[in-house]
Amino acid sequence: MSVIRRARPTDAAAMGRVYVESWRSTYPGLIPDHYLVGLSEEALTARWRGQLAWGRDGDGVFVAVERPHGVVGFVTCGVQRGQLAGYGGEVYTLYLLDQAQGHGLGRRLMAAAATELLARGYPSGLVWVLRDNPARWFYERLGGRRLGEQTICLARELLPEVAYGWGDLSELARLPVNPPLE
Ligand SMILES: CC(C)(COP(=O)(O)OP(=O)(O)OC[C@H]1O[C@@H](n2cnc3c(N)ncnc32)[C@H](O)[C@@H]1OP(=O)(O)O)[C@@H](O)C(=O)NCCC(=O)NCCS
Repeated sequence: MSVIRRARPTDAAAMGRVYVESWRSTYPGLIPDHYLVGLSEEALTARWRGQLAWGRDGDGVFVAVERPHGVVGFVTCGVQRGQLAGYGGEVYTLYLLDQAQGHGLGRRLMAAAATELLARGYPSGLVWVLRDNPARWFYERLGGRRLGEQTICLARELLPEVAYGWGDLSELARLPVNPPLE
């Protein structure tokens, strides 16, 4: 049984763990090893704790909680940080532990983010994904339209990213976030 809910400051440590584990299992070969080795759960926990405590304006953060494991994934979203015309909202991060993948939680987290973006007045949105990350097929499966590419610099490497967009987030938001209560 799993539930998607808004994140609380007490979720920060679990989010730090999910982030580091997910990066280390997703990005070997895509992002330099030394960068992945250097990721710090403590630093990320502090970052999430600060963000959640201050309730930073514009950010929506949702966690996937699975009994008995606790937080197994999360999504964050808000105003688009770039300048791609016609897409007001953005999904910034979406990460699940390995064992939590492939059971529909990613889709439900995306539905929560889409619902949040709509509520904040963004009818459309996008996500950036590393071009060589197989997760891009997930965004295609959810109806994302390939919008374009950019190159980012991470750990002194140039990495190609692809943007996927939803002109109408209401389709994503229609997906069930949580199973109906019995
Ligand atoms: C990408 C991710 C969030 C997807 O979440 P998930 O819970 O595994 O995906 P779901 O079970 O909700 O899948 C929804 C649909 O997408 C498809 N899908 C998911 N990942 C896929 C992949 N890598 N390739 C092709 N299809 C994929 C599923 O088969 C499913 O299709 P269906 O409707 O035909 O059953 C998750 O796998 C993850 O955390 N990956 C590692 C971190 C990452 O890369 N995050 C994205 C950073 S931009």
